[in-house]
Amino acid sequence: MNKRNEMMDRPVIDKEVRDYLRTSQKQLSGALGEIEAWANERRVPIIPHETVTFFRWLLPILEPKEILEVGTAIGFSAGLMVQSLSSDCHVTTIERNPDMIEKAKINFKKMNIENNVTLLEGQASEWLEKLEDGSVDFIFMDSAKAKYYDFFPHCYRILKQGGVLAIDDVLQGGTILDEDSEVPKRRLKIHRKLNAFLDIVLDHPAFDSSIVPLGDGLLLITKREKVDFSYMLPTDCGQ
Ligand SMILES: C[S@@+](CC[C@H](N)C(=O)[O-])C[C@H]1O[C@@H](n2cnc3c(N)ncnc32)[C@H](O)[C@@H]1O
Repeated sequence: MNKRNEMMDRPVIDKEVRDYLRTSQKQLSGALGEIEAWANERRVPIIPHETVTFFRWLLPILEPKEILEVGTAIGFSAGLMVQSLSSDCHVTTIERNPDMIEKAKINFKKMNIENNVTLLEGQASEWLEKLEDGSVDFIFMDSAKAKYYDFFPHCYRILKQGGVLAIDDVLQGGTILDEDSEVPKRRLKIHRKLNAFLDIVLDHPAFDSSIVPLGDGLLLITKREKVDFSYMLPTDCGQ
């Protein structure tokens, strides 16, 4: 299993406030609660509890029927989204890591949501280009952060007008503000690509957006107008 992103240990808000958000808000029960506890004990990367409570509040307001997730891991957030909505919702979720895929399948069975979930196995870049324009009401992008730039054009195209795209971990423990010269070499690619992505989307006239300081920063975008962002797509089919 992958280890939780090192940035999860560098909260973007005061640590005591973060702990309060995690422990004082409504906890999960049943299989979903067990999966959350299992993942947190092993530091398997799943959304933190403050984002869990936010999704449980947000999704019933938005009432999406078709959801796309990029980055399934062990199926926790997919299960959370299904269980926050009515039984006719459907989540398509993409994962490339075979260990995660195996665990996610077990967990979908455990949560009894197999009929609500389609798990697409493999590289997100390959699946995203196959998905239909305007076919999804809500997208949760929670995969490799350096790829957000490349995946965004497809996600925006796939999203219905009025739909919401939620993108996790955009603040990188606050280091997103650092100068390139201050960033360790191993994180420089993520740092540059995330900054290039945020430079394009944060002030774009075609949609409304807001970064909420939950976890490592959750960016929310509502699609207002159709825009072709295909100029952002990699030219080398890189994944
Ligand atoms: C942070 S975890 C997802 C956590 C999950 N959304 C949750 O909260 O329960 C990110 C996952 O994205 C997957 N991933 C990263 N890049 C990917 C790509 N290019 N294609 C498919 N999956 C990818 C990783 O293997 C990892 O399991």
